[in-house]
Amino acid sequence: MSQLLKEVSFLDLPIIAKGKVREMFDLGDSILMVVTDRVSAFDVVFNELIPDKGRVLNSISAFWFAQTSHIVPNHVLTADVEEYPAVLQPHKDQLRDRSMIVKKAEMFPAECIVRGYLEGSALKSYRKDGTVNGIKLPSGLVQGDQLPEPIFTPSTKAESGHDINIDMSDLCELIGEEDAKLLQETSLKLYAYAAEYAYERGIVLADTKFEFGRIDGQLVIADELFTPDSSRFWDIDDYHPGQPQKSFDKQFLREYLETLDWDKTPPAPTLPNDVIQKTAAKYREAYLRLVGHALP
Ligand SMILES: Nc1ncnc2c1ncn2[C@@H]1O[C@H](COP(=O)(O)OP(=O)(O)OP(=O)(O)O)[C@@H](O)[C@H]1O
Ligand SMILES: [Mg+2]
Repeated sequence: MSQLLKEVSFLDLPIIAKGKVREMFDLGDSILMVVTDRVSAFDVVFNELIPDKGRVLNSISAFWFAQTSHIVPNHVLTADVEEYPAVLQPHKDQLRDRSMIVKKAEMFPAECIVRGYLEGSALKSYRKDGTVNGIKLPSGLVQGDQLPEPIFTPSTKAESGHDINIDMSDLCELIGEEDAKLLQETSLKLYAYAAEYAYERGIVLADTKFEFGRIDGQLVIADELFTPDSSRFWDIDDYHPGQPQKSFDKQFLREYLETLDWDKTPPAPTLPNDVIQKTAAKYREAYLRLVGHALP
């Protein structure tokens, strides 16, 4: 187990973004992305940390970027701390395996979501009028059902508040028809590839979110890729349509939280040690199943 990391307080670099889990720093033409061990549920970040979570998420993302470079190039420059610039060398023990340096991209103002199964906001929309992002689905589907084919369901990237689901014509208006089609086609290819790969390893990739950008005019996939934070992963052995599925990584956390009298708004309750340890074990298991060997 590596040292736990709650916050990146040791770098004297301009911060670009501090998300619920990751922190991004400006290196000029490139960005240092650091994954902490923070965990969130229902959009609330907890005080406790999950051992190895940052390493698992960073390594899963790095794995998929490498694995999918035949489909689309990505923003990764290096995830090897030995190759980091001199300013970062004093901190390499804290950054090892939980960070990468990526090229700065001009990001498209859209989240590219692909869904192979009916869950989340898509389920809500389907129950209302049988459509998801303007796409008509067959009647009679239940929660968690596999869709006849994966669908592309983009959303806007809200600066604050919740993202808004949009349809293809909205996306065309937002970024132009040519790019909209390119993002759709690339997203569907990436999903098909990873969903098959994961399924063979006992994991359903129910849906996932991509963020694309351009570097020197070329389309790249950026941000994070097929991590449990950007995707819904379900265990095939535990897959039962018609009810909510257990998320691969956060099932113990969510089940514990449901036993509490907590309204899912901050402040977050304290997590007991066994929930922390079981959650850590699920992250390591996700890494093992997907990557094929235990987290080093
Ligand atoms: N290569 C890149 N170049 C420029 N911006 C990038 C690149 N990769 C990712 N980004 C952007 O960096 C930001 C990362 O933020 P992050 O995901 O940590 O926080 P968030 O999205 O605000 O919150 P959260 O994901 O925790 O809900 C996103 O806006 C993403 O689009
Ligand atoms: Mg994000």
